Formats: sequence, C-alpha cells, structure tokens
Amino acid sequence: MTSPASVFVTSLKRCLAKPDFLRHFYERFMASSDEVKAKFANTNFTTQVKVLEQSLFVMAVAAEGQAGSVARAALPRLAERHDRHHLDIRPELYDLWLDCLVAAARDNDEQFTDEIEQAWRTTLAVGIAELRAGY
Ligand code: HEM
Repeated sequence: MTSPASVFVTSLKRCLAKPDFLRHFYERFMASSDEVKAKFANTNFTTQVKVLEQSLFVMAVAAEGQAGSVARAALPRLAERHDRHHLDIRPELYDLWLDCLVAAARDNDEQFTDEIEQAWRTTLAVGIAELRAGY
C-alpha cells in the first residue's frame, strides 16, 4: 500500500519541477490575509522558497513517524521559530497556509486528484499540529 506521505512526496516533486510553484504559493498566501502579508514584509523570497522546500520534506518524514531521524529533529526548532516569542504565528493561520499550499499544488501538479489532495492534508497535518502545539 502507498502511504499518504509517499503520495504527497511524489506530487510535491511534480510541483517543484515547476520553478515558480512556491513563489505562487507565497503570492496566494499573502493575498489571502493582511496579517500574513505583514509578517512577510521584510522577507527575502529567494531564500524563503528554498527553506520552505526543505521543510516540506521534513514534514513528510515527520508524518511517517520516523522518530530520532535527523529530519524529525528539525521540527522542534521550526516550532520554536514560529512560536509566540519569535515569529508569533497564531495557530489559526495554519489552516490558511494549508489551503493556499493545496491550491498552489492543484494548479501545478497536472495529475492532482481529490485523493492526492487528501494525502497533502493528511501528511502536513502532523507537522502543523506540532507547530501549533508549540505556539
Ligand atoms: C507547517 C507550516 C509551515 C512551515 C513548514 C513553515 C516553514 C518555515 C521555514 C522553514 C521558515 C524558515 C525558518 C528559519 O529561518 O529558521 C519559516 C519562516 C517563516 N514563516 Fe513559516 N512555515 C509554516 C507556517 C507559517 C505560517 C502559517 C506563517 C504565517 C504568516 C508563517 C510565517 C513565517 C514567517 C514570517 C517566517 C520568517 C520569514 C523571514 O525570515 O522573513 N509560516 N517558515
């Protein structure tokens, strides 16, 4: 059986083959909320799209539950960076983040289906729960 995380990674790779996939995501995400736009006011997006790309693979490993792996260990640091004392990302904003990312994936993966969308949502829910819990 193919796990949701591997369906997610296969779709993610098709999306990443499109050079502007993650830029489109950030444009969509910032257009969705003034609060989000303000958070990214001083961001260098050349760097940001690269670190987001890496963190999406981290999220897939986290969803597979590989405790103790190097990628898994990156999540607490990511949660701390987003917590109330640092970037101060309200837990509610993660729903918007996920909806915008899934919408960008639908636009960029020509093989996208409802089942693949579910794999994105199921896989990313694990890491999102950890970031929210760390707020
Ligand atoms: C699970 C979802 C998310 C992932 C995987 C993620 C990933 C990342 C990563 C990897 C970084 C760079 C961290 C570093 O420099 O150490 C980052 C920074 C950032 N994230 Fe997130 N993020 C998520 C959700 C959000 C949400 C919901 C917001 C809401 C606005 C947000 C806003 C930011 C901001 C403002 C930065 C700093 C950008 C800068 O350096 O200028 N993130 N994120």
